[in-house]
Amino acid sequence: MKINTLEKYQASYKQGIEEPEIFWQNIANHFDWSQKWNSVCEYDMHEAQFSWFKGGKTNITENCIDRHLKTKSNQTAIIFEPNSPKEVATHITYKNLHQKVCKMANALLSVGIKKGDRVAIYLPMIPELAISVLACARIGAIHSVIFAGFSSSALAARINDSECKIVITADGGFRGNKSIDLKSIVDEALIACPCVQNVLVAERTNTEISMLAKRDIYLKDILSKVSDKHKAEPMDSEDPLFILYTSGSTGKPKGMVHTTGGYMVYTAYTFKNVFAYEPGDVYWCTADIGWITGHSYILYGPLLNGATSIMFEGIPTYPNPGRFWDIVDKFKVNQFYTAPTAIRALAKEPLTYVNKYSLNSLKVIGSVGEPINEEAWQWYHKNIGKETCPVVDTWWQTETGGILISPIPNISPQIPTYATTPLPGVQPVLMDDNGDEIKELEGEGRLCIKSPWPSIARTIWGDHKRYKETYFTAYPGYYFTGDGALRNREGMYRITGRVDDVIIVSGHNLGTAPIEDAINEHPEIAESAIVGFPHEIKGKALYGFVTLKTPVEDTEKLKEAINKLISSKIGPIAKLDKIQFTNGLPKTRSGKIMRRILRKIAEGNAGDLGDISTLLNPEVVEHIKNGSEY
Ligand code: PRX
Repeated sequence: MKINTLEKYQASYKQGIEEPEIFWQNIANHFDWSQKWNSVCEYDMHEAQFSWFKGGKTNITENCIDRHLKTKSNQTAIIFEPNSPKEVATHITYKNLHQKVCKMANALLSVGIKKGDRVAIYLPMIPELAISVLACARIGAIHSVIFAGFSSSALAARINDSECKIVITADGGFRGNKSIDLKSIVDEALIACPCVQNVLVAERTNTEISMLAKRDIYLKDILSKVSDKHKAEPMDSEDPLFILYTSGSTGKPKGMVHTTGGYMVYTAYTFKNVFAYEPGDVYWCTADIGWITGHSYILYGPLLNGATSIMFEGIPTYPNPGRFWDIVDKFKVNQFYTAPTAIRALAKEPLTYVNKYSLNSLKVIGSVGEPINEEAWQWYHKNIGKETCPVVDTWWQTETGGILISPIPNISPQIPTYATTPLPGVQPVLMDDNGDEIKELEGEGRLCIKSPWPSIARTIWGDHKRYKETYFTAYPGYYFTGDGALRNREGMYRITGRVDDVIIVSGHNLGTAPIEDAINEHPEIAESAIVGFPHEIKGKALYGFVTLKTPVEDTEKLKEAINKLISSKIGPIAKLDKIQFTNGLPKTRSGKIMRRILRKIAEGNAGDLGDISTLLNPEVVEHIKNGSEY
């Protein structure tokens, strides 16, 4: 499974393309299956139908935990580092993890959850989050982790979309010097969620919360009654493992469905190779398990490799901006994986926060979630990697399940700001404006993938038509990523950013439509359009152009009200940095908002708008350019 030379990478790449079935089968053979598959891969890129290891049966938690008990039962599987450095870290060994996951599995069964049921998990980054995810997988329930920064309405929409039977939450969570009342957010959400029968509550902040009789149960109360032994449910390779919501260009979030066998094989393989993981290494990914990075590269990928993975509850700047580096030294972290937004935020702080620490345990440092700018890359490479650690700029998506494009440390070359080369089995292509593949090595276009890899999402929960239309119709026969990219003459890829109405703010994917819908609910607002503009730390920030039904006096108050509305409908992550009130939005003759023009104005390039004479209302452009607010 290990790529240890450039020749091995090249040979694996070649085989992954020419003989994908043999290539992936050899990797899948490293895992425990209770029944072997009948076919490695069957697919139809036009109908968006994929199956990997069809007919095979396995349980991913047996491969994540039980398989390691013979040799690693006393090795730490998960290190939980609490928000406050004053609180002691918890080391959960593989043996402990096995007991805890079995207990939680029995707890879920005891409240009537069975294979195929959906379980919403709305928890802070505490061990119960990892344990709940794995417990669902163990009994075959489909976990739907919802990031604990989402508001009650966003939570309700996700719970209802997949009709979750229970919610696992906590009394509250700590983040920096704040605490968040998660249980009251759940209570509010559940007013609109008739499908939820029970709420299981973990205790973290020990704050007073309301518990609804019969519905709400403290986790400790059921855990104390159930056994710590559980035989994992054999799952078909194509049984859904989880749903994870991601923003789309249109209103409703998309519940991406990942299945068992292919996801297992792909996350394990890519974890091992992209991070050059060696037995005994301590690995840390700073993401939240509420996002795909946390699913694939805090939990599944590392545990499938019998690794030690750190789960950090807090934020990079609490109690001071040296916290990440303190944790790296404290646990002698070997692989460190974070997002450009965190790198940029920490690079702005005095270097003394870094130089207090040795960081000499680090072997590989990684980046994910958005394009990393040259300055941030260089700072990271120099000050954190001490110019010796390879930087892996990993490109992938919620939909891809695992990393598709990345350097292999110490093996394939790295270039700042380039995700570089595809991993074995992955065939990226660039499409030109006519929808044709760019055949020359050097070029720039829309990034598509030519053939399936094992962890490609199988569908959007309850809406296969939308899945097909979103990803497989723009370029028939290809998976369309929604990203633009360029390729240099060595065949290396640099991702340039989204080409649709998704904006990545601080590494979080935000669809513009749901934010606009939230704003438009305000009684004084007629219409709105959101675009992104460059931001020093967040990468991109949100700029809202808003038209009012009638002019208002106190525009500052209205701006505050808009952001409050967005926080309550989606979450604070979607708040606007700039709001401009306008007397209209530029539209095409068919009534479509011309975001391209708004984007240019927001980016400060109003001098370069091109031909606007074909607009329905070119006069509003002048008005917006003048920045006038009624
Ligand atoms: O635009 C790309 C960007 O993040 C998008 C996927 O977001 P999400 O589904 O939330 O998953 C994030 C974590 C995998 C992509 O379409 N993106 C992700 N990684 C990179 C990136 N852009 C540039 N470089 C990357 N390394």
